[in-house]
Amino acid sequence: MILKRLKDETRFSHQATEQHLDLFSRMLTKSEYARLLGRFWGFYAPIETKIGQVVGLEQLPLNLSARQKKPLLWLDLTSLAWDEKTIQAQPLCDDLPVLDSIPQALGCLYVLEGSTLGGQIISRHLQERIGITPDHGGRFFASYGQDVRSMWKGFGETVTSYSTSPQIEDTIVDSAIETFASFGRWFQNGKQD
Ligand code: HEM
Repeated sequence: MILKRLKDETRFSHQATEQHLDLFSRMLTKSEYARLLGRFWGFYAPIETKIGQVVGLEQLPLNLSARQKKPLLWLDLTSLAWDEKTIQAQPLCDDLPVLDSIPQALGCLYVLEGSTLGGQIISRHLQERIGITPDHGGRFFASYGQDVRSMWKGFGETVTSYSTSPQIEDTIVDSAIETFASFGRWFQNGKQD
């Protein structure tokens, strides 16, 4: 039930996110692509830190360390010739969703993990259009490679077994919507930079 609620109740947010990113309407250059990854870094680095601080989350079967995207972004940026200083100097998002509880963290993770599904489409697009392969700058969007589906299924099972009341479900859904909103604001603001 919770997975259906999440999908239905964030449908609009997802569409808005695709529009904010606007990845397919024109050809990206490699340096524009690297700047986009830098913006992802500015969102994922602080949000993964925040998720890591949620008390009790480590007790759930989530395999959080395998799900971290920050190392993938680091690899991609360095293979696109960004040096450590440039990466560390990226602005970091401080307008993040409130993550004070496990259900809030799960709602946020739903958004981050779900993005690996769309990431597969983006990954193919990058290979075809600008020659970015998973081994050279494209690890973040390729994420778990062959394991995307099984990682998504595992996450879904954990969220489902944690969702034992309508109140818990409501908090998870609200946090997912907040996470999409925060992501959207971050990328909208990035366009003015
Ligand atoms: C242009 C960019 C994107 C495209 C084209 C895209 C496309 C898709 C597609 C096709 C799916 C469904 C996959 C499936 O069920 O097999 C999906 C799922 C999902 N995407 Fe995206 N996506 C994009 C960006 C994002 C971003 C940036 C986020 C999060 C920040 C995101 C979050 C999600 C979530 C949470 C789901 C799971 C929906 C569910 O509950 O089944 N997507 N996306």
